[in-house]
Amino acid sequence: MNTRLDSRRALVCGASRGIGRAVALALAESGAEVLAVARDAAALASLLDELARGASQTHQAIPLDLSDGGALSQRMQAIAEDSPVHIVINNTGGPPAGLAIDAGPEQFEAAFAQHVLAAQRIIQVLRPGMQDAGYGRVINIISTSVKEPIPGLGVSNTVRGAMASWSKTLARELGPLAITVNNVLPGFTATERLDYIFQGRAEKSGQPIELIRKQALSLVPAGRFAEPGEIASVVAFLASPAASYVNGINLPVDGGRTGSL
Ligand SMILES: NC(=O)c1ccc[n+]([C@@H]2O[C@H](COP(=O)([O-])OP(=O)(O)OC[C@H]3O[C@@H](n4cnc5c(N)ncnc54)[C@H](OP(=O)(O)O)[C@@H]3O)[C@@H](O)[C@H]2O)c1
Repeated sequence: MNTRLDSRRALVCGASRGIGRAVALALAESGAEVLAVARDAAALASLLDELARGASQTHQAIPLDLSDGGALSQRMQAIAEDSPVHIVINNTGGPPAGLAIDAGPEQFEAAFAQHVLAAQRIIQVLRPGMQDAGYGRVINIISTSVKEPIPGLGVSNTVRGAMASWSKTLARELGPLAITVNNVLPGFTATERLDYIFQGRAEKSGQPIELIRKQALSLVPAGRFAEPGEIASVVAFLASPAASYVNGINLPVDGGRTGSL
């Protein structure tokens, strides 16, 4: 089985911490050259240090705000002119928690820009390079909420649904070009985002955060939260030649938590 990514270039968004960082490490370990995007330049520099240890490939840090559409398109153009990118990992911070009914239109607009529009800008620029190479992988890190919307994450649920539909549509459009488009749906994963969600639930309910954690754990057949690397290894598989016939799917990596089929 070929899971190697030697001589492949991978753009990894949201690579400064959490799941994105773990994905950058996993793709590099499989042989890819990583272009790591996030706003925190210092965190990216530290990732690059770690990537450089014992590696033969050259990696790049790209400090960038994915919400800044103009800057994003410009940067993608420069990257594409340099050399084709074969793998794109669309990943960014989740929208703030809260009920959908309480969210202003500007919150939906901001989330749509940071998630769907950023992904659209990226693929529009990078698709010709994938097409010419005869190899493309677009992998979106979204959420199990595309199968079962999560209470208290109104804007997130809405934007993830849009992202999943965008992805399924593109999978059909780009499939004939040997470009696959898939979604990975993480379950509870031990990152800053999970801490933020639990903190919010604790404040809202007045319950201690440890109780909130216990309640969440009771929903997971695996009986524990995921490590970011467990999400990343699935992403690395989908990015590889071994996953060439997997296209247009939503793949939960959630320890069995999601109840729907
Ligand atoms: N952790 C979980 O349990 C879980 C479960 C289901 C779904 N998810 C989703 O999976 C994704 C990743 O989760 P995570 O837990 O790794 O999140 P995280 O720890 O909050 O990390 C988010 C990453 O996105 C980057 N980012 C945020 N806003 C950005 C922007 N405007 N421009 C560029 N980069 C930006 C952050 O870097 P900078 O701050 O440096 O920009 C960071 O690297 C999120 O969408 C999250 O909602 C997570």
